[in-house]
Amino acid sequence: AQTVKLAVVRGDGIGPEVVDEALKVLHAVLPDDLVVQETAFSLGATRYLETGDILSDADTAALAEHDAILLGAVGGDPRDPRLAGGIIERGLLLKLRFAFDHYVNLRPTTVYSSVASPLADPGAVDFVVVREGTEGPYVGNGGAIRVGTPHEIATEVSLNTAHGVERVVRYAFDLASRRPRKHLTLVHKSNVLVHAGALWQRTVAAVAEEHPDVTVDYQHVDAVTIHMVREPGRFDVIVTDNLFGDIITDLAGAISGGIGLAASGNINPDGTFPSMFEPVHGSAPDIAGQQVADPTAAVLSVALLLDHLGRADLASAVTQAVEADLASRGTTPRSTAEVGDAIAAAVAARTTTA
Ligand code: NAD
Ligand code: IPM
Ligand code: MN
Repeated sequence: AQTVKLAVVRGDGIGPEVVDEALKVLHAVLPDDLVVQETAFSLGATRYLETGDILSDADTAALAEHDAILLGAVGGDPRDPRLAGGIIERGLLLKLRFAFDHYVNLRPTTVYSSVASPLADPGAVDFVVVREGTEGPYVGNGGAIRVGTPHEIATEVSLNTAHGVERVVRYAFDLASRRPRKHLTLVHKSNVLVHAGALWQRTVAAVAEEHPDVTVDYQHVDAVTIHMVREPGRFDVIVTDNLFGDIITDLAGAISGGIGLAASGNINPDGTFPSMFEPVHGSAPDIAGQQVADPTAAVLSVALLLDHLGRADLASAVTQAVEADLASRGTTPRSTAEVGDAIAAAVAARTTTA
């Protein structure tokens, strides 16, 4: 049997609630020839407020011993002054993405026909955003002087390297050429951010030469928000930088019927470090502890994890169980655990009949 060491970071807010359901589904789908050994890591705002630790070198080293990471969400109440400045988000989540070289942040969007999208007539929608995960304005390359004076100057410089852009663009082309429609859209803002924009455009043009099977277009990020609402079916693979990818994937989550459906994988394609799977959403302090969060995004993140482990068969069993659950959703609200139970039951039913 294949043994997989899985680090589990339940995190803060709704994180523990949705991860518990995701693990329920994972255990329901596991066949005899795949063994998952879980290690729980207590990381996040809750732990920081108790101990003062965010992510030690020892934590990182221990996480690195695993094959993959499943993360719920981290971050506390944004009004808590002790958590100001994104101390958890930057010190934990981004630190892990950087330390484990998660240069591909994979964020698929499907509009399931049974789900009420806020769009009246979305049509067939199935696209993947390949968001760069280790560069852009996320690297902390900035500063402020004369803070609090009328002459304050604050900068946040976006970092784009030829190496970093090329590797994520290559991943996106490889993905596009494996998909039926074989289309790639570069999203940037090259009419204003000319230096980085030129690097991205030149890189896409160069890699496109090696992929004559893939059709390519370019959209400015502002226009993408229009097209994603008006005609989301036009997209197949979108490749974009860290910040644009962050913003458009929340929009993508919303059009698919809710952020509670949006899954993601922070991938280190080289396999040097563990990849990390997490819902796109955050810790949702507004609904935490109430058992009302939708665990579907966390469950679908498990599907991405299984796919990454080379078990596309199990990944599609999970996705199909989610589809079945979405199709049978009525108007009666269900608790987080009820949704997890229903998906786990659908997985188990499918596994026994298969
Ligand atoms: P959020 O995604 O936590 O919440 C945005 C809105 O979506 C809220 O109204 C929330 O109730 C709703 N929502 C989110 N997940 C849901 C689910 N599964 N089911 C139903 N509704 C859901 O974003 P935010 O409010 O901007 O951030 C809250 C905290 O989470 C902040 O500290 C932020 O930094 C952090 N955050 C963490 C991650 C992460 O860990 N990956 C991602 C985003 C935000
Ligand atoms: C996400 C989140 C993070 C990001 C934050 C919490 C640092 O919004 O995973 O989308 O901006 O990448
Ligand atoms: Mn985000």
